[in-house]
Amino acid sequence: MIPSDNPLPIVDSFGRVHKSFRISVTDRCNIRCFYCMPESVQFLPRQDILSFEEIARVVKVAASTGISRIRLTGGEPLVRGQVWKLIQMLKSTDGIEDIALTTNGILLANQAEELKAHGLDRINISLDTLNPAKFEKITRRKGLDQVLAGIDAAIEVGFEQVRINAVSMTGITETEIVPLARFAREKGIELRFIEFMPLDGDESWDRGQVQTGAAIKQAIESDVGSLRPVERSHAAQPATDFEYTDGMGRVGFINSVTEPFCESCDRIRMTAEGKFRNCLFSTREWDLRTLLRTGASDHAILAEMRESVAEKAAAHGISRDDFQRPAKAMYQIGG
Ligand code: 5AD
Ligand code: SF4
Repeated sequence: MIPSDNPLPIVDSFGRVHKSFRISVTDRCNIRCFYCMPESVQFLPRQDILSFEEIARVVKVAASTGISRIRLTGGEPLVRGQVWKLIQMLKSTDGIEDIALTTNGILLANQAEELKAHGLDRINISLDTLNPAKFEKITRRKGLDQVLAGIDAAIEVGFEQVRINAVSMTGITETEIVPLARFAREKGIELRFIEFMPLDGDESWDRGQVQTGAAIKQAIESDVGSLRPVERSHAAQPATDFEYTDGMGRVGFINSVTEPFCESCDRIRMTAEGKFRNCLFSTREWDLRTLLRTGASDHAILAEMRESVAEKAAAHGISRDDFQRPAKAMYQIGG
C-alpha cells in the first residue's frame, strides 16, 4: 500500500514517470573488465558505503511514490557480504514488486539458492565471451569456469528470469556473438547485447569501438537463426527483444549508443555511497547519505530525489559534439 501523505509519483520536466530504481551496493569487484574499471582502483572506505538499513530507508521513501522495481548492482554486488539480507528487507517494503540483480557470476554458484530463497526475482549475469583467453583479456582476471557454474546454479534454483548481458566491442567480441547466442539457446536463457558506452575505467572509449546492435543482429540471423520482434514486457524497457522464429529462445539488443531509449526512461539511481543520480550519464549527484546520517525526515529525502529528477536531461547526448562524460566510471555508478 502506498502511504497517502506522499502519493505523487516522481516525474521529470518531460513528463517521464519514474518506476525503477537501480542501486549500487558496492564499488568493489573481484574482476576488472576494462569497459568498467581501471586496473588499479581506490575503492571507497567502508564507512562511506550505505548500510543495508540506510538503503532500505531510501527504498521505502522511493516506493511511497510508486517506484516498484529495484535492481541491485555494483561494482559486483555479491562481493558485499550477505546481500540476501538486503533483498529480504526490500522484499518486505510496501510497493516493491520486483527485485533484480546484475552480477558477474563469479560468486553466484554459492549464493544463488539463498538469493532466491530471500526474494530475488530475476538475475542478469554479465558474460561477453565463452573463450577463457578472451575472458581474461576483457576482465584482466581468470574466472570463466566460475561464471559458467554460476549460470547453471541460477538456472537450477529457478529464478523467474536468468539473462546474460554481453557488452559488444569492435575488434574484441565479433567472434563471440554466435557462440554466445548458441550457448544461451541451449541453456534456455535470454541473451542481451549492450553497446559499449563511454563509461570505461581508462576513459579511452571512442565511437569506433562500438559494435552496433544492428550488426550483431545481422550476424545472429545469418549464422544462428532468423528472428522476429516480440512485444516489450513493459514500456520503459531499454532492450528491443526478438525471438527465434523456430521458437528456441530470445535475444535482445540494448543499443544505447546508436538508438538511445532515453525518451521512455523510468530509472533513477543511487551509488554505493548514497549519491542519487537522475541518469547513468548525469554529471551531478545529490547527496542522500548526508541527509540519512543527519536525521533528515523522509520528506526531506524525497524532496532531494524530486529536485534531482526535476533536473533530468532529455537524453544522454553521447552523439552530440558537446557530450560530456561523467567523472565516474561504470563501477562507481552502478550498471
Ligand atoms: N558499456 C556498456 N555496458 C557496460 N557494462 C559495464 N560497463 C559498460 C560499458 N562501458 C555492463 C556490464 C553489466 C551491465 C550492468 O553493464 O557488463 O552487464
Ligand atoms: Fe566488475 Fe561488472 Fe565492472 Fe566487470 S562490469 S569490472 S564485473 S563491476
